[in-house]
Amino acid sequence: MRFVLRPWLSSLLAAAAILTVACASDEATQQAQPVVDGAAQLDAGPRSGEQIFASTCASCHGAGGEGDENWMVRGGDGRLPPPPLDGDGHTWHHSDNVLYGIVSEGGLGLGFGSNMPAFKDELTHGEIIAVLEYVKTLWDGKTLDGISILDTQREFSENDPYPPAVR
Ligand code: HEC
Repeated sequence: MRFVLRPWLSSLLAAAAILTVACASDEATQQAQPVVDGAAQLDAGPRSGEQIFASTCASCHGAGGEGDENWMVRGGDGRLPPPPLDGDGHTWHHSDNVLYGIVSEGGLGLGFGSNMPAFKDELTHGEIIAVLEYVKTLWDGKTLDGISILDTQREFSENDPYPPAVR
């Protein structure tokens, strides 16, 4: 039997070809588009913020960031125990820049007697931001006076964002 390319079939094929080209170029534009979220652009390394939190922060701040039960009561050394980072404390009162400084420089680096270590030699710039972004996911859905604490912290950070990478 001879194959006859019927008019309707050829136009169908043409339409499919156009569609394929359209999709391919669509994909190309999507890939070329810049990532808007600054944090997402960073190379956080192979570990996710959650993994960094589990290995580096959870020993003091708790597996779920719940902090020490008596976090507001100074210990024998006159220093405060690890506070909750899960939104139940006041971590969300700090802008991204301040949070970055606390993790990078530690409490002592920022000039107050504190047992919060400095992580600037242990974590990269991207890792510090990744772990802080993970911490913020623990605030999801939490509100104060009906206002999302995540939104409030975002507002604080608008004029005080994470510092740019220096390395
Ligand atoms: C050796 C225990 C220890 C480890 C490990 C530790 N922290 Fe802390 N952290 C503390 C203590 C203690 C404080 C309270 C500091 C103070 O107020 O003197 C604190 C405070 C903080 C604060 C300020 C919280 C607030 O509400 O003001 C942030 C943010 C924080 N830590 C994040 C982290 C992150 C992220 C990690 C992991 C990369 C981490 N910490 C690892 C002990 C620790």
